[in-house]
Amino acid sequence: MPDPSQYKTPLFDAMVSLAESRKISFHTPGHKSGKGIATRFVKYVGPNIFSIDLTTLDEVDSLQKPTGVIKEAQGLAAKAYGADRSFFLLNGTTVGNHAMIMTVCNPGDGILAARNCHKSVIAGAILAGARANFVYPAMDASLMMSMNVTFDSVRQAVESAAPEIKVLVVTSPNYYGICADIERIIPFAHERGMTVLVDEAHGPHLGFHPELPKSALSCGADMVVQSTHKIIGGMTQASMMHARSGRVDIMTLAGVLKVLQTTSPSYILMASLDLARMQMATEGEKLLSKALELARWARDGINGIQGLRCLEKKDVLLRSMGDLDETKLAINVSDLGMTGYQVSQALNTEHDIQVEMADPFHVLVIVSIGDRKEDVSRLVDALKEIAKGRSAAARFDWEQAKPPVGTPQGLPPREAFFAAHELVNLGKSAGRLSSEIVTVYPPGIPMLVPGEVITEDVVNYLSRVSAMGGTVDGLAEDGRIGVVR
Ligand SMILES: Cc1ncc(COP(=O)(O)O)c(C=O)c1O
Repeated sequence: MPDPSQYKTPLFDAMVSLAESRKISFHTPGHKSGKGIATRFVKYVGPNIFSIDLTTLDEVDSLQKPTGVIKEAQGLAAKAYGADRSFFLLNGTTVGNHAMIMTVCNPGDGILAARNCHKSVIAGAILAGARANFVYPAMDASLMMSMNVTFDSVRQAVESAAPEIKVLVVTSPNYYGICADIERIIPFAHERGMTVLVDEAHGPHLGFHPELPKSALSCGADMVVQSTHKIIGGMTQASMMHARSGRVDIMTLAGVLKVLQTTSPSYILMASLDLARMQMATEGEKLLSKALELARWARDGINGIQGLRCLEKKDVLLRSMGDLDETKLAINVSDLGMTGYQVSQALNTEHDIQVEMADPFHVLVIVSIGDRKEDVSRLVDALKEIAKGRSAAARFDWEQAKPPVGTPQGLPPREAFFAAHELVNLGKSAGRLSSEIVTVYPPGIPMLVPGEVITEDVVNYLSRVSAMGGTVDGLAEDGRIGVVR
């Protein structure tokens, strides 16, 4: 039985009640409940959305200094997720990663971060002036995949790190749903006196179904940030931060968020967080059972197609990972003699199906509480169609496009980011220090962090992925050639 208080949606209710009271507005937003909005916009989306596009008013509380319905809504989120405090985030998990690092690091402090982190973790280190050390995820040649960090690699990195490094940042699950063994990693780091921050962007649903991986909070994480909008009912940009007191000073965190977050938060986005939490807490298990059932059905179907291989739980458990979120379908397409980018393109242009992401060897599909059997069935049929008659003859192998590991560091990220710089052709940049974050996007994992030496390996990797159809982000493009700062 769900906790009866979790059926409440205090923020959304207050917004509807204020909108329906039709008070005369002499305040922002300037469109005045939609009356000043371009007609085409209102015609397409309908009028109600504008009447709840509110600003900070007594009736609907303030995100910067919550004392009313936002405080209550965040309190219900904390209860549902098992945190001491939860915060609504309006610039996605990106701002959460910035805030986590700024909360626990002073300028010059060090963090140990799993290198499969999102670029916002590096941006957090730049903002905080923190030095960054990395532990690399395990690479697997047979799965053609960068997995997650293992317990052993984290243990070794912690043991060889300078004793003053007191912050560990882990991304779990990763984009492919692969969880690190946080049940062992978090207590180990705590024993070593470290504070553990988990980027759980891909895991706002964990903890609401017994067959999904354990959530980071349930494994003892000190701060966790989740993209509610990526996987469950939050609207795009709406994320949540959850914190435990003890190792984290929650007052400092609240203060950092005040500095980083907008003073004009979208009430529509915040309401979507209030409702997404209510939905998970009251019927999450039922909804997620359906998503899991669909994903398992699709996985079996895809694994029955010659040339395709969809990542399974046993694959990740065998490789010392913590678990797999089975609602993510990481489909290896290399035996079709195609890249993931090509399969993604074929699904889009020939079958009107858009996937979340592609890499040289995979396409990644997210199955969620919003999917229907007929859509998943169309995906499986489309993949069958694409696979027909293909062969592995022209297959790329792992060695041609595996991500580089162990890039040496020359300067701390902040120093390099603000250093005097010049633009250099990528092909001629080996041996120089990067002044910017360069990623292949998605997933947005940095291939170069400011201050790192640009190696031949990195240059070759970026050039190859770019030639295969991946998007390299962070290279200043002049229309013809990739140049790096
Ligand atoms: C692991 C990870 N962390 C953080 C982010 C950033 O999240 P958001 O888009 O909610 O700002 C992403 C986005 O892809 C991500 O994959």
